[in-house]
Amino acid sequence: MKNSSERPAPRSGLSILSGLIPFLAPYRQRIVFAALALLLAASTTLAIPYGFRQLIDLGFTTAGSEQAANVNVYFLALFGLACVLAVATAARFYLVSWLGERVTADIRAAVYAHVLRQSPEFFETTQTGEVLSRLTTDTTLIQTVVGTSISMALRNVLLLIGGLLMMFITSAKLSSIIIVMLIAVILPIIFMGRRVRKLSRASQDRIADASGLAGEMLNAIAVVQAFAHEAREALRFSAAVEHAFRTAIYRIRARSLLTVTAILLVFGAIVFVLWLGAHAVIEGRMSAGELGQFILYAAIVSGAIGALSEVLGDAQRAAGASERLLELLAERSPIASPAQPHTLALRAANGASLEIAHLNFQYPSRPDQPALSDLSISVAAGETVAIVGPSGAGKTTLFQLLLRFYDPQTGSIRLDGIDIRELDLQVLRNAIGIVPQDTVVFSANAMENIRYGRPEASDAEVIAAATLAAAHEFIERLPDGYQSFLGERGVRLSGGQRQRIAIARALLKNPPLLLLDEATSALDAESERLVQKALEAAMEGRTTLVIAHRLATVQRATRIIVMEQGRIVETGTHASLVAAGGLYASLAALQFSGNAS
Ligand SMILES: Nc1ncnc2c1ncn2[C@@H]1O[C@H](COP(=O)(O)OP(=O)(O)O)[C@@H](O)[C@H]1O
Ligand SMILES: [Mg+2]
Repeated sequence: MKNSSERPAPRSGLSILSGLIPFLAPYRQRIVFAALALLLAASTTLAIPYGFRQLIDLGFTTAGSEQAANVNVYFLALFGLACVLAVATAARFYLVSWLGERVTADIRAAVYAHVLRQSPEFFETTQTGEVLSRLTTDTTLIQTVVGTSISMALRNVLLLIGGLLMMFITSAKLSSIIIVMLIAVILPIIFMGRRVRKLSRASQDRIADASGLAGEMLNAIAVVQAFAHEAREALRFSAAVEHAFRTAIYRIRARSLLTVTAILLVFGAIVFVLWLGAHAVIEGRMSAGELGQFILYAAIVSGAIGALSEVLGDAQRAAGASERLLELLAERSPIASPAQPHTLALRAANGASLEIAHLNFQYPSRPDQPALSDLSISVAAGETVAIVGPSGAGKTTLFQLLLRFYDPQTGSIRLDGIDIRELDLQVLRNAIGIVPQDTVVFSANAMENIRYGRPEASDAEVIAAATLAAAHEFIERLPDGYQSFLGERGVRLSGGQRQRIAIARALLKNPPLLLLDEATSALDAESERLVQKALEAAMEGRTTLVIAHRLATVQRATRIIVMEQGRIVETGTHASLVAAGGLYASLAALQFSGNAS
């Protein structure tokens, strides 16, 4: 993909499909072969009526044994044409279908890879189910276009032009009449095609809505069932599906109207002209063979027009689908690696230093509510700093900025002296290990889940990380040990177990900067004690920021930063903060009295 930030200019109608050209370009050679096969098949089709005329006029009108010989030659020639037609048609079908499948696969992969790189801002406004629907149903439409419609269109345009030409050669007068009538017929067809495209886009959008809804609810199935909202959610989904159905019916109606108009008008015109031709033969102005030839060409031409109107409908649908897919591909993440990234060579052996200066940040979706205000923290390499504060203080937000999920509006973050905006995103994120507040476990076994932290790690390294995270024991007790499947989103584990898997994953990565977001919040007292020990070991030799609700977790930090409403309100050690009697002291008092009771 080009690295241009401007979006393509809005285009209309079928020209949208030109956005697919970059996906076709790599397969030029096949396209040329397909075009040749297509040309061959079309010219063979056009030669058949001529053969017929020869058969009728010469085969049946000359006398004696010469007649039998003529008939044999013409029948043989006709069969020969049929053979060429068969092979050329099959070759075209194979090549073009191959292209359709190939291009669809490429587009799916490109869109998915592109969506994976979008910043969280994109996912705040786009439902994952919608993206999935685009990837499956919209790409299928494109497959129809590339895999059949384009070649059908080309073939029928060739047949149309060739057929018209041959009609003119056969009878200029009859053809002129037909042409005038056809022009009158085609204009309304084109006009109706436009409407089909608009309705098609709407129809795909409604399907995407329904998928988005279903995706969200299936992910939250436990909540849906706990609130006994199954019937309600089923209703909501069927309403969305109904909406999609009604939109689809509008499109189908428009398309039926298109079909009936096209067939009636085209055939009406042809039947009328044939009637004229029949009279010409009766009056001896035309031979029977010529009329036969003319009829076949007229049939080819009308068939071509019928097929073209059908293809136009498909192409309009696909244009609607491509529009949204190309929009997705044109989506530029506001967070991107710089063109010339700085390298990150850690200076200290015990982690990276961190310099956070005057951060001001609002989430893009809440531009008038500051999430962080003039926040400055400086952390030396190897230091452990704890961050505490009431819920909503902005602690998780700070971690998101460190990972560069968002850029601050003002201020800067320096990792080992380098502004993180000057680092390659991958380099930056490889330097950070995070145990997030909401842990994510994939539908894979325990071994693979932990190995996600460093895909090239050996089994022994995975087990060592699990042991350090106090996860080894419970994993061993699972039915298949490390090979046990953990269920989609880790549904077969308790919250505390999931958290220990996440800790093991972060430890396996062995990063110079470790971010723990309430990493022990879901643990019971016993495993918390175990994990606490593990984390202390893990903090050795690296810089660590730890967000914690439980003050027991933070007492040992070299420094405690207290945040409230996006600001730092206090800094100090446990003892100095308790003595100061501020926010930390009141949080501590609440907790210790809670623990005592
Ligand atoms: N993606 C988001 N979009 C808009 N606002 C958000 C988003 N995430 C968090 N917030 C808001 O930012 C503030 C700080 O949230 P957060 O950093 O998660 O708090 P903490 O982790 O300290 O509990 C809260 O008011 C929260 O509602
Ligand atoms: Mg948080």
